[in-house]
Amino acid sequence: MAARLGHEATGIDTAETAIAIAQGKARDRGLTARFLVGDALRLSDLDEQFDNVLDCGLFHVLDDGDRVRYVDSLRAVLPPGGHLYLLCFSDRQPGDWGPRRVTQDEIRASFRDGWQVDSIEASTIATNNLPSGALAWRVSISRS
Ligand SMILES: C[S@@+](CC[C@H](N)C(=O)[O-])C[C@H]1O[C@@H](n2cnc3c(N)ncnc32)[C@H](O)[C@@H]1O
Repeated sequence: MAARLGHEATGIDTAETAIAIAQGKARDRGLTARFLVGDALRLSDLDEQFDNVLDCGLFHVLDDGDRVRYVDSLRAVLPPGGHLYLLCFSDRQPGDWGPRRVTQDEIRASFRDGWQVDSIEASTIATNNLPSGALAWRVSISRS
């Protein structure tokens, strides 16, 4: 999506299969984007900074300890004024299959120090389990 909008884009996932699928999609769409097999909890390894980070479906798979590592990792690559856009399962989604349900309070607690949570909006996230998608939070956060 970012590449289609004309941005220089880097995609990261620990799963080689996910990266291979993403590379194939970009190729099919005639887009140029960089894809890396890498750990979002160790973004400092990239030794780069970004204006914006998009998280689609990662935050909600992290346990409590990894949430802390994730926020520290983001701090290393997002300078003050940078933005994080995050889409995660919400606690409004019934059932206990799939990833963790995330509350608004949990999001605000994770990003309490050195961040500003600009908005949390009700949304949906695409999932194979539900044709209409799962109930989600679409979150906009700025680095202070
Ligand atoms: C729910 S899937 C979302 C996949 C994709 N972003 C999407 O929206 O369809 C979660 C993804 O996070 C990846 N993942 C889990 N832990 C990770 C980590 N520490 N660093 C990078 N990717 C990770 C998994 O391999 C998986 O592809």
